[in-house]
Amino acid sequence: MYAVRSAFARSRFFENLDPGWKAAIIAHYGVFAMPEYVATFGEARMGRFGRAAAWRNMALFGTLDEIRHGQLQFSFPHALLNKEPRLEWMPLAYRGMDGVLELFGQAARPVEPQAVLAKVRAAHHAFLARCSLNAVAA
Ligand SMILES: [Fe+2]
Repeated sequence: MYAVRSAFARSRFFENLDPGWKAAIIAHYGVFAMPEYVATFGEARMGRFGRAAAWRNMALFGTLDEIRHGQLQFSFPHALLNKEPRLEWMPLAYRGMDGVLELFGQAARPVEPQAVLAKVRAAHHAFLARCSLNAVAA
């Protein structure tokens, strides 16, 4: 895959695409990395709690496959960042999600949902500002 990724990045394929196809590629990499990443959790859970050994074994192979899918969704757009900076918004979104999870982890116990929600909203708006996506009036 690395060779394909490198050849793709060196080619002029992306530059010569119709703007509509470029937009579709940007949207694809922004949207589909997340389901691939999340699918890893489901497969890993089946790999741990499946009721039969065959089920658990197959689910662990599925876990590895979903990790591969997720990594490809990061790797290909990363190779094109020098041509299209908007391909980085998806990794930025992941960092934002990590921040949200950190806020939940730091919340006082017992967790007060409204207080956590206020912090998540504040972190979300800070993230949008950092990505220059806060230009739309609320
Ligand atoms: Fe997948």
